[in-house]
Amino acid sequence: MQAWSAAERRAGRRIVLAPTMGALHEGHLSLVREGKKSGDRLVVSLFVNPAQFGPSEDLAAYPRDFERDRNLLEKEKADVLFHPSAAEIYPERYQTYVEVEKLAPLLCGEFRPGHFRGVATVVAKLFNIVRPHAAIFGAKDCQQLQLIRRMTRDLNFDIEIVGCPTVREKDGLAMSSRNRYLSGEERAAALSLSRSLKRAESLVEEGERESERIIAAARAEIEREPLARIEYARVCGPETLEEVARIEREAVLALAVRIDKTRLIDNTILKT
Ligand code: PAJ
Repeated sequence: MQAWSAAERRAGRRIVLAPTMGALHEGHLSLVREGKKSGDRLVVSLFVNPAQFGPSEDLAAYPRDFERDRNLLEKEKADVLFHPSAAEIYPERYQTYVEVEKLAPLLCGEFRPGHFRGVATVVAKLFNIVRPHAAIFGAKDCQQLQLIRRMTRDLNFDIEIVGCPTVREKDGLAMSSRNRYLSGEERAAALSLSRSLKRAESLVEEGERESERIIAAARAEIEREPLARIEYARVCGPETLEEVARIEREAVLALAVRIDKTRLIDNTILKT
């Protein structure tokens, strides 16, 4: 991979990386299309990263469909599918990790200790292996996107980080590989996430600025679904992701909700 990238760089070509864990959907494919547009060579990595799953999480059950993913990427004309094994990425005696100290413990980090350490580590490794000029991430994982931006600056990676908007199903459900876990009834309950974001957006449009009232309205929308259990619903600064009591110019409303065993996240930018 490094040799290929070195040759492409010598030939003056711009390499773009889109990291994924596979089970590709239209959200991933939007990153692929953006990557095709914004560079000369697109590398898609597909690696279900054990380091970002907790001991009681869904690493073993995580959907894997390599042949389907490969076909989709061929259709989209991705140039390289980088699909390393866990033993290549984390060989015996592996012991080096990247900690993004302030961002990692917030929001999802509070409920998934170690998750963002695993994400930051694997993305740093992918950056060093693929040597891209730019890397693309979805805004659906807003904390991940901010954490990668921070890490890229802090560790002086000479890589442009590109954020892409969240792709949704027609009825509003944010696309996610984990949506495959949902039964029909659960999927219907999962719509409460995007409904609650819409409710918050309209409150802000009507002039509401107090986080507490916005959160109460957002929570009420989700709490109407007996199958849904809120992990958090918070209004945060868009870059620091620290909670804010009032929306000044811009804030992010971030949600994590369990629908039975399936954990879903979603977010929206609230603009005044
Ligand atoms: P994964 O969940 O496979 O997501 C890969 C990329 O697709 C991420 O940048 C994510 O934000 C983006 N994505 C997922 N759903 C999306 C949607 N509905 N709309 C737009 N973009 C979407 O995120 C990871 O994998 C991993 O943590 C990874 C970065 C690959 C490191 O292991």
